[in-house]
Amino acid sequence: MADFDTHDYDILVIGAGGAGIRAAIEASANGVKVALVCKSLLGKAHTVMAEGGVAAALGNVDPEDGWKTHFRDTIQGGKFMNNWRMAQIHAQEAPERVKELEEWGAVWDRTDDGRILQRAFGGHSFRRLAHVGDRTGLEIIRTLQDRGIHAGIDVFMECTVGRLLTEDGRVTGAFAYWRENGRFIIFRAKAVIMATGGIGKMYHITSNSWEYTGDGMGMAYEVGADLLDMEFTQFHPTGMVWPPGVRGILITEAVRGEGGLLKNSNGERFMENYDAARMELSTRDIVAKAINSEVRAGRGSPHGGVFLDISHREAEYIKRKLPSMYHQFKDLADVDITKEPMEVGPTMHYMMGGIRVEPETAQTTVPGLFACGECAGGMHGANRLGGNSLSDLLVFGKRAGQAAADFARGQSTTAINQQVVDDTAKEMAAPFERARGETPYDLQNALQDAMQTGAGIIRTADDLRKCIETIREIAQRMPAMYVEGSRLYNPGWHLSWDMRHMLTVAEAVSRCALQREESRGGHTRDDFPETDHGHWESVSSVSRRRGDEMEVTTTPKPEMPEDLRALATSESRAVP
Ligand code: FUM
Repeated sequence: MADFDTHDYDILVIGAGGAGIRAAIEASANGVKVALVCKSLLGKAHTVMAEGGVAAALGNVDPEDGWKTHFRDTIQGGKFMNNWRMAQIHAQEAPERVKELEEWGAVWDRTDDGRILQRAFGGHSFRRLAHVGDRTGLEIIRTLQDRGIHAGIDVFMECTVGRLLTEDGRVTGAFAYWRENGRFIIFRAKAVIMATGGIGKMYHITSNSWEYTGDGMGMAYEVGADLLDMEFTQFHPTGMVWPPGVRGILITEAVRGEGGLLKNSNGERFMENYDAARMELSTRDIVAKAINSEVRAGRGSPHGGVFLDISHREAEYIKRKLPSMYHQFKDLADVDITKEPMEVGPTMHYMMGGIRVEPETAQTTVPGLFACGECAGGMHGANRLGGNSLSDLLVFGKRAGQAAADFARGQSTTAINQQVVDDTAKEMAAPFERARGETPYDLQNALQDAMQTGAGIIRTADDLRKCIETIREIAQRMPAMYVEGSRLYNPGWHLSWDMRHMLTVAEAVSRCALQREESRGGHTRDDFPETDHGHWESVSSVSRRRGDEMEVTTTPKPEMPEDLRALATSESRAVP
């Protein structure tokens, strides 16, 4: 092990977005030694793409709101696939977590009497989203960064974890490398918290940046963790569609929350035909599919989207409430959104499925491994409500940090298996030794083609089968993949390792999508258009490793207690 830097910690947190930093803060507050490792920079995370607000039933604007109505909306929005206990904990604890951020220095937009202001968002029956203009995720990250740094957490930036290390079935550390110089690092830890975010980069059109290659799910799967409900992918209805270089970049739902109207090329507010009660503030799955249908029917905008128009509001109001959107369109598309409509279309944004966790503790099915934030599954069911990602990462980030600290206190540091370390180092270096062939970029491009066409918004058995076949064929091409240059800052080499995780996750998504013969939330099967309120409502999909093969099966969902079921099925309302 002489060739490697080796570090010892009680807790290793992988991923430094909102969930990871919140978990690290909590673990550290519990008196254990914490390392926070991220492949990018501290806080440069998809958390900032939750722009329009954090959902918490504070009741500052609509006093009738409370955890029960938030719980009901979340379950109805998730099409009854959510883990009920996670949804309950989330709704109950979100207000406290938001107020805590205020104590830690977060600056919020305010009501006239000085309380945190809340706005409307799709699928929420009250004005529930606490916000800071359209930069809410950024403000949350800024606050958590400050808090984390002052808590004395050790941060390893531009350091990628490639593999978890285990001993007797327990996670005992991780193998990582510095992106700058390619030098390997070993972390020994009593517990590991996975907070690596989503999987967007396996699609061509996504709001995610380069970091989101499903690493946490891939690594957890590799050591035996279950992946849950991987067919449920969220296409945010409003991404940029033009110019091509910015396709997929997010346009916050807050545009619709502030009154933005969706129109087709005939100037019709087409949501009338898809969800007349909620219109533009319907849930994301419904709005994304509606846009898709309008475009397919030939009523799209010139560049293959539809129009989103907020120009009926005062220019000053738009610039104050949606400053990032104003600048994004001015700078990137030469569109003045105070005067003209935006062109928008669906973009892969979020993964509802993920690592299976225990609701109270965020403990995975592998001892010593915890998961929170987007890489964990169960909380959002088949479709996430906007703003619930930020509250999810705060609530379950805290719980994961607490539970991992409790776990770590009962453990001793374990020796690292030298053979696994040596094999991983060899495996990582292998692409440099190959004769010229396909690059990781070629393979990622092929995977993105397959996923975008086969496992996108609308799916069929034939398309999914082709997609699975292509994924397997790409996996066979991996051993001949070639990387040019050296280990000194080499993104191609980094991608060569990320491809392994992407292939695992892509296989899980497409096989679970093939297995689920119904349409629900973010999973739409053209060949099974109905939602099945029998069998498929009662089971979750599970993907797990069996030797070198992936087993895809189902497991019964935990039964919701009667009082909560009554609540979840009670009639919701549209924000007036
Ligand atoms: O549209 C948005 O501002 C995104 C929010 C979210 O994904 O929660």
